[in-house]
Amino acid sequence: MENAAKRAARVPELPLGPRRPEESLQDWLYRELRQAILDGRLGRGRKLPATRDLARQHGLSRGTVVAVFEQMRAEGYLISRVGSGTRVSERLPDERLSSGPAAPIEAPPVPGLDLAEKTSRPFHPNRPALAQFPVETWARIASRRLRRVTPGMLAGGDPQGYPALRQAVAEYLGASRGVRCVAEQVVVTSGVQQSLDLLARLLTGPGSRVWVEDPGYFGATDAFRHAGAEIVGVPVDESGLQVDEGLRLAPNAAAAYVTPGHHFGLGVTMSAARRIQLLGWARQTDAWVIEDDYDSEFRFSGRPVPALQGLDTAGRVIHLGTFNKTLFPALRLGYIVLPEALLEPFLRRRYELDRYPPTIPQAILAEFLAEGHFGRHLRRMRELYAERLEALQDDARRFLAGLAEIPAIQAGLFTTARLVNGMSSEEAERLAAEREITAFGLHRCCLRRTDIRGVQLGFAGYTRTEIRAGVLGLAAAWERRRGV
Ligand SMILES: Cc1ncc(COP(=O)(O)O)c(C=O)c1O
Repeated sequence: MENAAKRAARVPELPLGPRRPEESLQDWLYRELRQAILDGRLGRGRKLPATRDLARQHGLSRGTVVAVFEQMRAEGYLISRVGSGTRVSERLPDERLSSGPAAPIEAPPVPGLDLAEKTSRPFHPNRPALAQFPVETWARIASRRLRRVTPGMLAGGDPQGYPALRQAVAEYLGASRGVRCVAEQVVVTSGVQQSLDLLARLLTGPGSRVWVEDPGYFGATDAFRHAGAEIVGVPVDESGLQVDEGLRLAPNAAAAYVTPGHHFGLGVTMSAARRIQLLGWARQTDAWVIEDDYDSEFRFSGRPVPALQGLDTAGRVIHLGTFNKTLFPALRLGYIVLPEALLEPFLRRRYELDRYPPTIPQAILAEFLAEGHFGRHLRRMRELYAERLEALQDDARRFLAGLAEIPAIQAGLFTTARLVNGMSSEEAERLAAEREITAFGLHRCCLRRTDIRGVQLGFAGYTRTEIRAGVLGLAAAWERRRGV
């Protein structure tokens, strides 16, 4: 056996720079070796000292050197071969990373995704008045709730949702939306989109057909398409979904997706006759009706239109709602009211997908509801949004005459503007975008329809001044197409 001291004396010393304060020995050795390789002091293919020699030279434990060698091997700086020790790689990972420009990745178009970041500029369709959100109240409840947090709440949650929140949602829906339900039927989700995704996979799939409003909410179409279902676009008119057309196109569809309170696209409310007809079809064929009640809290004149679910006596309607529009989009909490038969299979899939919703935000929201802050906020927002819609309607009458018309619908966070100058939805959206204005073209919502010319203009999140500036911007953007 070779004498250790003799052997150490034979191995050339590998000089390393000083260690930084608070740097661990392992980090230091890694940084220095990598640097020595990158600036050529340790050339390609050069053999490194054995781990135990390097350890001795620098007063390190052998384990530290072994760990650094391991990491650098995994990253491609070093290679080891049995019998020939450890050497510097011939080709370094940094070169591999920078060997020529990467091919650009073209993201597939996702309707709406390109607008997701542009909520602060008028007229994003789904932006509530965020400056009006009672942040102080929310913060007070949040800190109180956090101070009382139990280990159980930190450990996990109920796949159906926090019980106190489900109770508060059931009470709210009964009193304000005419939904007939108990807390046991309510499941908390991250919002309508997650509810739709889970439902699409549960109720539809390859070989099944789904009625989707045309024009309609592209997020629903996406969910059903991803589940493998065939999308059947059913035209919408001023009374909502044309049930007769659905019956003609696909009488045996598995489900129908509707926004009866405030149609996503045209803003209309589904008439009582159509509601009854739709429920009759669902009852007779055992189809499901998926009611997306995404912004029906906001109705500014007349009586609120109760939910379709409350009319259903056969247990065929699934009611979806969200707090992401009534409170703030980043909250990511919504709910679904399920007929009893669907509860167990839905929860099983939910558990498989994301286990359970986050407990702490749910607990905060439950108290926010129970203490009446939600009701108060809704009342304030209804008044404010009504004023903002009126401002938009007035400005549109004054400055967009001959270009676009806004129907007299008093609801929602956005309104439709019908283009009356022959401009297509795409063109209107593009010209507006050139002036940094969001005018969400209805072409994004159309399945087979080619007769729809319009844009959605969100008003809820913008002040009178912003609305005026936005309308003047639209007038300038569309001017050369006036009265074509
Ligand atoms: C008609 C409709 N349904 C559902 C959603 C999604 O709601 P959530 O944010 O709760 O997932 C939107 C949001 O833009 C919507 O417009």
